[in-house]
Amino acid sequence: MIIIQAKDYDEMSRKAALFIASQVLLKPNCLLGLATGSTPVGTYQELIRFHEEDGLSFQQVRTVNLDEYYGLPASHEQSYRFFMQENLFDHIDILPENTHVPDGLSRDPQAYGKEYDEMIASMGGIDLQLLGIGSNGHIAFNEPGRYFTAQTRLVDLNKNTIEDNARFFESADEVPRQAISMGMRSILGARRILILASGANKAEAVRDMLEGQVDPMIPASILQLHPNVTLVADNAALSLIS
Ligand code: GLP
Repeated sequence: MIIIQAKDYDEMSRKAALFIASQVLLKPNCLLGLATGSTPVGTYQELIRFHEEDGLSFQQVRTVNLDEYYGLPASHEQSYRFFMQENLFDHIDILPENTHVPDGLSRDPQAYGKEYDEMIASMGGIDLQLLGIGSNGHIAFNEPGRYFTAQTRLVDLNKNTIEDNARFFESADEVPRQAISMGMRSILGARRILILASGANKAEAVRDMLEGQVDPMIPASILQLHPNVTLVADNAALSLIS
């Protein structure tokens, strides 16, 4: 794993955006795997700036998102589809039909998850997957557990994740208890992975991801098995690395 150090959140965001922009320049019709959460917001702002000021075009780019809260319609302010429109898609020249976020209202999540994985495969697989990391080491909504799961599927969110994400809702009670999450097969199938981490509350997860055993209790540790992962993290998130 290549580690790129940044002094703070803004520098992390600039470096991450350069990384993604270079992918788009190299392969204008690339398939980008995208993430939500507060971590990539600054990266998306930089990409919007590249688009507006430097003419970076997303016209041929295709995207797949990692996850969506189960039960939230796309119009809900806290849905990940809404987040992607607000934070990126509405501000660049990407074609709406080229963007894919799991459907939080899917009636048959099991069949839907299979279709989502098949869609990614039929698009040629992900060229660059952007990831954040949960404070408990989760990636997408793959929570710590007894095993790693390959498939996109319906998952139960654990208490820690519900508490972490409660800041976006009126209260923890309003945070959905389930989500549709991309599984490890599509994530690890990406040709390149860019994982971002910012802040002291991610330091333990980053240490465990990098220095611990590959362990389903630390879902991000599976990235140790991928040949092309870059971590861009700020000093606070790297503070526990030996
Ligand atoms: C959510 C998302 C993850 C994200 C994580 C961290 O649970 N499903 O994809 O990486 O939160 O979020 P944040 O960046 O807000 O710390």
